[in-house]
Amino acid sequence: MMSTSQTTGTDTIIDIRDQSSANPLVLEDKELHRHYRVGRGLFKGHAELRAVNGASFTLAAGRTLAVVGESGCGKSTLARLVTLIETPTAGSLAIDGVDVASASPETIKAMRPKVQMVFQDPYGSLNPRKQVGEILEEPLEINTKLTASARAEAARAMMAKVGLRPEQYSRYPHMFSGGQRQRIAIARALMLSPRIVVADEPVSELDVSIRAQVLNLLMDLQAELNLAYLFISHDLSVVRHIADDVMVMYLGRPVEQGPKEVIFAGPRHPYTVALLAATPSVDPKARSKRLTVKGELPSPLDPPSGCAFHKRCAYATEICAVDRPELRPIVGRAVACHHAEQLA
Ligand SMILES: Nc1ncnc2c1ncn2[C@@H]1O[C@H](COP(=O)(O)OP(=O)(O)O)[C@@H](O)[C@H]1O
Ligand code: SF4
Ligand SMILES: [Mg+2]
Repeated sequence: MMSTSQTTGTDTIIDIRDQSSANPLVLEDKELHRHYRVGRGLFKGHAELRAVNGASFTLAAGRTLAVVGESGCGKSTLARLVTLIETPTAGSLAIDGVDVASASPETIKAMRPKVQMVFQDPYGSLNPRKQVGEILEEPLEINTKLTASARAEAARAMMAKVGLRPEQYSRYPHMFSGGQRQRIAIARALMLSPRIVVADEPVSELDVSIRAQVLNLLMDLQAELNLAYLFISHDLSVVRHIADDVMVMYLGRPVEQGPKEVIFAGPRHPYTVALLAATPSVDPKARSKRLTVKGELPSPLDPPSGCAFHKRCAYATEICAVDRPELRPIVGRAVACHHAEQLA
């Protein structure tokens, strides 16, 4: 299967995943919230910033859920919740059936290896003073009782799995290209055999020419190890290749959620329509519904009343400014919009 990761150009990606939905759920999140108390400035007191404000979703082994939305909509905060770096201020978060939102520190510590993260920046996320081998062995050193030689063997085996050569074991991160460094970061994430990998914009800092290789590698590893991916991206052409399901977020809340094919074939939230319209490589039929997002993302410190999107939305009517739309099922996906029927 590794041969697919040698191809270049996004068109050559071959989808080899098992599409059966019989795989067990590894992640079940209900009404997740993460609010921050932030200062408004001198003499202005504090305010609550709702970075994630009610997200519910599930993820099964072997599947990929893509989280999309423009910068500031809460994607990275969601990633920190799922990877147990931060705790939610409300809601439940179950990993492999264990609710970790209200768990003891010992339980959280025991669950942490099950969820690993690959960061956006392949330059900043690897310790420049450590050799690749040491970087890969570190999680084993901290979390297992493996001997030094067993750790070294595991590191070399993982290097081969991600397409690095075992003789590169003693090299330092600066001796590698961006794409190779992201392979190292992926290898590091897999050392503890996680169930879930959270990838926060893992290819957006890479040259376009090598993005497909890294995406193919992720897909090959998913098929081989039955990994569940929470894949964060603002780039819908990448999402189209890698996702099974899509969750579109706006100001901390999902506004459209469902299978990738359904959403890409006919988005029903004006924000999704606008995101797709701005994506050059996406189906021209979806693009022909010309609708661009006006203005800037509002501050999550002072979100608009009613539908948070109403000041930028071409479909907005009076009700949109006063009544917050809840997610409701519409032809195969869930949409939070009063006028979703009009977007057919
Ligand atoms: N630790 C924090 N303290 C206060 N505000 C934060 C913190 N982390 C994120 N935010 C705010 O939460 C919002 C969502 O941020 P983030 O999750 O990074 O979004 P994204 O990854 O989609 O760009 C932003 O307004 C950001 O400024
Ligand atoms: S509820 Fe109204 S403002 Fe919000 S997305 Fe739908 S039409 Fe636009
Ligand atoms: Mg982010």
